[in-house]
Amino acid sequence: MTLAPSVLAADFGRLADHARQSLDAGADWLHIDVMDGHFVPNISFGAPVMRGLAGLAREFDVPMDVHLMIEDPDTFLEDFAEAGAASITVHQEACPHLHRTVQAIQALGCRAGVALNPATPLVMLEDIAADLDLVLVMSVNPGFGGQTFIPGTVGKVRRLREMLSGLRERPLIEVDGGVTPDNARALVEAGADVLVAGSAVFKGDVARNVEAFRQATTFRA
Ligand code: DX5
Ligand code: ZN
Repeated sequence: MTLAPSVLAADFGRLADHARQSLDAGADWLHIDVMDGHFVPNISFGAPVMRGLAGLAREFDVPMDVHLMIEDPDTFLEDFAEAGAASITVHQEACPHLHRTVQAIQALGCRAGVALNPATPLVMLEDIAADLDLVLVMSVNPGFGGQTFIPGTVGKVRRLREMLSGLRERPLIEVDGGVTPDNARALVEAGADVLVAGSAVFKGDVARNVEAFRQATTFRA
């Protein structure tokens, strides 16, 4: 299981130091939540703030995983690639020319992901799944950290895993929103490869929180 702490839940007054705690504890990726106040009803931060984490990501050799909750993401792809994104995920609901957007991300040398809101059915990805590096299943309505996990997501992840099983190169399955050590195991068993967690990593003792995810998702024979 790949654990991707969302720095949205970190203390912005000491962002890099707080993010460092999660990497010291063994987190695998840094998840970067970008919100524009249009696609979602909240504003977070953009490429300049993300760039402030690039040195840390390099030091630990972890990828920065960018989740664009913004309208017209095409305009900003280059900025985020230059800021150090290893993967860039756009929302299906925000991209009328999704195939073109995915190609543009890959042409910038990044892995391309597509996110689905809770009410968006998997069938929307049927004709593009083979071209993707990552599918992000939202388990809350995007816009805010600290929301409650939507339980139906576990079944959606299972169905997605089945849908992707026939592909020669299967995209990674990432789950984002309300993920905690309590639902992590069910998500991994359903087929999730990457778990994003904001509050469950950064609220309280970061090292202990990361360890709780490891405990919950370690399978004994
Ligand atoms: C939701 C964001 C998530 C969020 C996760 O809009 O995409 O990445 O920050 O935060 P928690 O884990 O607190 O739900
Ligand atoms: Zn996210």
